[in-house]
Amino acid sequence: MFHRLAPYYDDLVGAKDYGYESRALESLARQHGRSRGRTWLDVGCGTGRHLRFLRRRYAVTGLDASREVLRIARRRLPGVRLVLADMRNFRLDETFDVVSCLFSAIGHLRSERDLAVTFANFARHLTPGGVALVEPWIDPADFRPGYVHLLTRQGPSVTVARMAYSSREGKRSAVHYHYLIGKTGHGLEHFEEVVTGLLVSRGRLLELMERAGLTARFLKESLTPGRGLLVGVKGTTSSGGRNVPVSPKG
Ligand SMILES: C[S@@+](CC[C@H](N)C(=O)[O-])C[C@H]1O[C@@H](n2cnc3c(N)ncnc32)[C@H](O)[C@@H]1O
Repeated sequence: MFHRLAPYYDDLVGAKDYGYESRALESLARQHGRSRGRTWLDVGCGTGRHLRFLRRRYAVTGLDASREVLRIARRRLPGVRLVLADMRNFRLDETFDVVSCLFSAIGHLRSERDLAVTFANFARHLTPGGVALVEPWIDPADFRPGYVHLLTRQGPSVTVARMAYSSREGKRSAVHYHYLIGKTGHGLEHFEEVVTGLLVSRGRLLELMERAGLTARFLKESLTPGRGLLVGVKGTTSSGGRNVPVSPKG
């Protein structure tokens, strides 16, 4: 997945305003987080577009399962720790004030069990009071099989056209992508890719987050239109995941 697309990923998402999104994420982290530090882990960081902005105010770490996208992120973010690992089972030697997982990276997981272990892993890597900001994949109720979507981007030397066709395979969406890449002076390249995504309702995602020990809520406001954002806060006491109020002892 994304192996062949990696060199063109940034051309394709060219219109996405990562600076604006990063500021919105920072504001949400301040609003919901209860820890005071400034460490941020971006899981499924891709080519490091959010990290480029977040690193101005946070000590950032990126993690992704694709060697190809991390290679691009390394060029963009010299000096930043970037880890090649799977979100389900990575183990880092530190905890973070914010763990983000954006642009529906969790949609690539294969089962609800995967989601459960991933949320538990996010919780494990949060400092007490830290916050997880997770952008989910499309809600099953909103997924429209049979939909055709065309995206084109024209850059100075690379032009990308992507046509997508959506279908449904049980609990999964399957988006069939055809890419046509034009490189000035080098000709055209065509390749195909099918990206499947786990269709899980917002309610179920919240349940899984809560089970992972995070106090979870769903915010309708979105970075990507229609996706919303899951916010999970780790408790500030050692009595479990919830924020348990400390009651004065008599
Ligand atoms: C749609 S891209 C989003 C990239 C980036 N967050 C952004 O906003 O541009 C999803 C990313 O998740 C990564 N990914 C998918 N499954 C993963 C897994 N199990 N563990 C870690 N990264 C994964 C992919 O390699 C890809 O870079």
